[in-house]
Parts: sequence; C-alpha cells; structure tokens
Amino acid sequence: MAERVEIVEMGPRDGLQNEKRIIPTEEKIALVDCLSRAGFRRIEVASFVSPKWVPQMADSAAVLAGITRAKGVSYAALTPNMKGYEAAKAARADEVAIFASASEGFSKANLNCTIAESLDRFRPVVEAARADGIPVRGYVSVVTDCPYDGAIAPAAVAKVAGALRDMGCYELSLGDTIGQGRPETIDAMLAAVLEELPAERLAGHYHDTAGRALANIEASLARGLRVFDAAVGGLGGCPYAPGAAGNVATEAVEARLRALGYETGLDRDCLAKAAGMARAMRG
Ligand code: HMG
Ligand code: MG
Repeated sequence: MAERVEIVEMGPRDGLQNEKRIIPTEEKIALVDCLSRAGFRRIEVASFVSPKWVPQMADSAAVLAGITRAKGVSYAALTPNMKGYEAAKAARADEVAIFASASEGFSKANLNCTIAESLDRFRPVVEAARADGIPVRGYVSVVTDCPYDGAIAPAAVAKVAGALRDMGCYELSLGDTIGQGRPETIDAMLAAVLEELPAERLAGHYHDTAGRALANIEASLARGLRVFDAAVGGLGGCPYAPGAAGNVATEAVEARLRALGYETGLDRDCLAKAAGMARAMRG
C-alpha cells in the first residue's frame, strides 16, 4: 500500500486572510463545506487576531458557527494571545495554533513584539488549551528568508522550534512565509530542527512565490516529513510579509505526491471544485 502523506488545508485562513476584497461570510462557509467533503483531517478556517490588523478574518466566529462540521475533521484557528484563545474556544475551534517567528524583524511586523515576548504570550494559551483538552499546533515563520532581516540561520529556527515544543505544541509547522526557500536552504534548516524534534512532529508550510514549493516539499520528504500545509487554488499570502503571494496549491501538492507514489486520501473532484471556488473568490 502507498505511504500516506497528509495535506493540511490552509485556504480559508492563510489563503483568504490576504485577499483585498472583503469576502462575504457565506462564501467562506461554502468553501469550508466543500473542503469538508474532500477528505482532509485538518482544515484551518479561522484566525482570532486583531481585526484592525487583519480585517479579512474579523468574521471568524461566524464562519465557525456557520459551517457544517464533518465527522473526523478538525477545524483549526490561529490565536496570538489569550484574547484570541478565549474567542477560539467560545467559537468551538477543535484545535488552535500559535505562531512565532524565527526573526526579530518579522516578529515585530506580524505580532508587534519580540520573539521572547511572543513566547511569553503563547505560554498561557498553551496552558489554558491543555486544561481545556484543545490541541495546540505551533508555527515558526520565515524559516529560511525574512523580508526584513534577510537570510535566517537554521539554528535560529531550531531554537524557536525547541521553545514551542517545550511549551507543548503537538506539531510544528515550518513556514517559508515569503516563498524564497530553496531545496538546499530548506534541507539545512530541517537538519537543525530535526536535532530538536523528530520528523513525525514536523510539517512543511511553503509559500510558492518563487515557484519552488514543490521542490522544497520533495527535499522535506527526503528528510522524513509527511505533513504539508497547502491552500486550494494557491490562495493567499501574509499581510505582514511583503511579496508573500500564494500558498502552494493543494491540488498541485496532491498531484505531485501521487506522482511520487504517495497517497493523500483526498478526493480529486472535490479538490478541483474547491479550487474553482477559491479562484472565483479572489479579488
Ligand atoms: P497590538 O496592537 O500590539 O496589541 O497587536 P494590543 O494588545 O495593544 O491590542 C490592540 C488592540 O487589538 C486592542 O483593541 C485589543 O483589544 C485588540 P483596542 O483597545 O485598540 O480596540 N486585540 C485583539 N482583538 C481581537 N483578537 C485578538 C486581539 N488581541 C488584541 N486576539 C496583536 C498585537 C498580536 C493583537 C496583533 O499584532 C495581531 O493581531 N497580529 C496578527 C497578525 C496576523 O494575523 N498575521 C497573519 C497570520 S501569521 C501568518 O500568516 C504566517 C503563517 O501562515 C505561517 C507562515 O507562512 O510563515 C501562520
Ligand atoms: Mg503562511
């Protein structure tokens, strides 16, 4: 039997957070409901951040309230602090994600604080989530290149990854936020992070700005990673990372994985339909 690789769907969150047009809540709900039929185990659908910072995600509670939850699917939400965590819990997010940066420049731009301050804010979130039985995923952003600080040392990524592991994140997703990583830099970064965590607890989150995300996924497969984040229709980017156009498209990752002999458990017709909806939602 083919080996399984999991794709975690990011479209409704990482995808739509960057769209200029304010997308009606019903359109977001329809996209999530379509994705729920595609066979994903995890879909990131919401982000409880400041609506002044990311207006596009201001209706996150309404999205979580409006979707038809499929059995066996975990609906995730980003939470930068306790305020976001309480809102995510009230909206019945199945899991939450905290997001740190490997560089000080991106931490300041994205979270308005230093890396150390961000970790201090995440600690009570993870403690509360543990008490509530809500799993916490962790992101490390700008793992190879930062739009503010330039090339990132692999040791800097490993340090933040270790801190998030110590806090209790069940999995760490490594973000090439601006899609400038190359197979060699991704490989060097992974070599350092693998000193802190086994491949089973890592995911690759690669943006496709320079068209190298699939090559970076292959480099990560060679290092033993079996979970990748992607967004249908290649939606997205990050509003605080200039040039961060486009998560790698889920349908492209699925096709590449299949060509490499892996199995994703995803329904290709459903994916094509969701990708069509996602593209139509773009401004
Ligand atoms: P701040 O301005 O320093 O925060 O922002 P503050 O504590 O001074 O609060 C300012 C205002 O925001 C206050 O309201 C707070 O109540 C409110 P006011 O009194 O002015 O009316 N506020 C909140 N409102 C709703 N939900 C909250 C919340 N927290 C405070 N949770 C803050 C600090 C963290 C809030 C801000 O910087 C922020 O929201 N940042 C989020 C930026 C973001 O969402 N970026 C995109 C996601 S990360 C990403 O895409 C990367 C990833 O995909 C991986 C990769 O690709 O690398 C994950
Ligand atoms: Mg991202």
